[in-house]
Amino acid sequence: MKKKILIVEDEKINALYLKKLLESLDFEVLQSVNNGRGAVEAALGGAPDLILMDIMLEGDMDGIDASIEIHKQSDVPIIFISAFSDESLVERAMDASPYGYIIKPFEKRNLATVLTLALHKYHLEKSLTESFLKLKSILNGALHAIAKAVEVRDPYTAGHQKRVGELSKAIAQTMGLSEDMVETIYVAGTIHDIGKISVPAEILSKPTRLSEAEYMLIKGHPLTGYEILREIELPSIVSEVVYQHHERIDGSGYPKNLHGGHIHLESKIVAVSDVVESMSSHRPYRPALGLEKAIEEIISNRNVIYDPEVVDACVSLLREREFSFAW
Ligand SMILES: [Fe+2]
Repeated sequence: MKKKILIVEDEKINALYLKKLLESLDFEVLQSVNNGRGAVEAALGGAPDLILMDIMLEGDMDGIDASIEIHKQSDVPIIFISAFSDESLVERAMDASPYGYIIKPFEKRNLATVLTLALHKYHLEKSLTESFLKLKSILNGALHAIAKAVEVRDPYTAGHQKRVGELSKAIAQTMGLSEDMVETIYVAGTIHDIGKISVPAEILSKPTRLSEAEYMLIKGHPLTGYEILREIELPSIVSEVVYQHHERIDGSGYPKNLHGGHIHLESKIVAVSDVVESMSSHRPYRPALGLEKAIEEIISNRNVIYDPEVVDACVSLLREREFSFAW
């Protein structure tokens, strides 16, 4: 199938010449427009395979600004054509991530090479992105399967990790953390209790108070989780967060009695979410205490055992009803 090209060129004669050249190279010319705004509209409405964009255009939007605008909604490859190539123009052009830059006047052979390379590069990038997304979704599926494996042995906490993951993510977003951090916190929250796989199921679902020895076994789950996750190619911070999710900023947590400055922010977020979700739901040894009690708990221990900024973000999410658990 012929590749469809959009021409953006304000000189009518040049546009016509380009059209002829492209057709002789076996491309289909979708349309020719002569201004930036028209280019954005034609690019988003006409689904071209590639855009040849002149930089100097009629109207208030030049080719570079039009390309930046187009790339907000589409990844279509754009090649600039310009009679100018001074340093500052080329530098500005780079902001639009073009697939090529052709200086006018150009030869047919030159145009054909740049177009073929650009289309090939775009195709390669597309398949790389697809493989990356596929791998990511396989990894996510595997993580959810691991979380399920833990919860199958402990039906009272079914869905606990998923809900902790979701609340942790919402807190991280409210705190304005980077996309990468939000993702890490979500993943860590979703599998934070993975180490419980080593705790006997009878202990996990025991309806009465645990003996000291049983409690010691439960307290081993952050380390076990850390050791399991270290084996997987995840960002190392994920296993650290799992290791630290029962630490408290005054050093009263476990397993390492770390103080605030030594606890990752990501772990502090998962810790607060864990407490809030646990208190809101039923446990073998007690009925659900409710969301209000959970909010009271984190407020009264704000800056004592829980990070104050994390508490503030969590309380505002729950109080303003911007977040609620999916049961
Ligand atoms: Fe835990």
